[in-house]
Amino acid sequence: MCEFLSPCAQLTPKGYYSHDTPTPFPREDIVKDKKRQKIVQELCKSYNMEIETVVNYLANSVWLDGIRAKHIKDSLAAEVTSELGHAQLLANRIKVLDGRVPGSQALAWTQTFMQPPEKSIDYRAVIKGVVQAEEGAIKQYQKIIELCDVYDPVTQDLCVELKGDEEEHRRLFKGYLAEAESM
Ligand SMILES: [Fe+2]
Ligand SMILES: [Fe+2]
Repeated sequence: MCEFLSPCAQLTPKGYYSHDTPTPFPREDIVKDKKRQKIVQELCKSYNMEIETVVNYLANSVWLDGIRAKHIKDSLAAEVTSELGHAQLLANRIKVLDGRVPGSQALAWTQTFMQPPEKSIDYRAVIKGVVQAEEGAIKQYQKIIELCDVYDPVTQDLCVELKGDEEEHRRLFKGYLAEAESM
């Protein structure tokens, strides 16, 4: 027995110490529930980011003008579908984990860097915004992957897959950025 516990402290069948006074060791089910709540909270944050990305990629895919913007517009239009698919997968996982999927009133809009630029031919600003948005998504998925470790492999698998998608998006737009900056 641990020397810091009084003699009356005993191991319960679950392996925790029972005592006359409240135990300093949190019960396993409480710890797991707090972990689940934290995972749901972070999934909701990713969901928010995906929805905002859909809104901004859609706007920029229509707003840009010029022959050089053509590929950017086409890629953004394709990614609207991809990001919406991510949001659907996240919403489903939030529901499975007994969370409530946020509606529009519960969403926060933070992508100041992804607003359609004043000049519709400023495709460089959009490319930079996309790279920043993808990096934000990658960082958030990595956070969930680490949070889920051991505890929730299913959510972890989902976030590994989504992180891989975002890394491909980032690579594509980094290529566009390299080309744009060499002109
Ligand atoms: Fe995404
Ligand atoms: Fe993406």
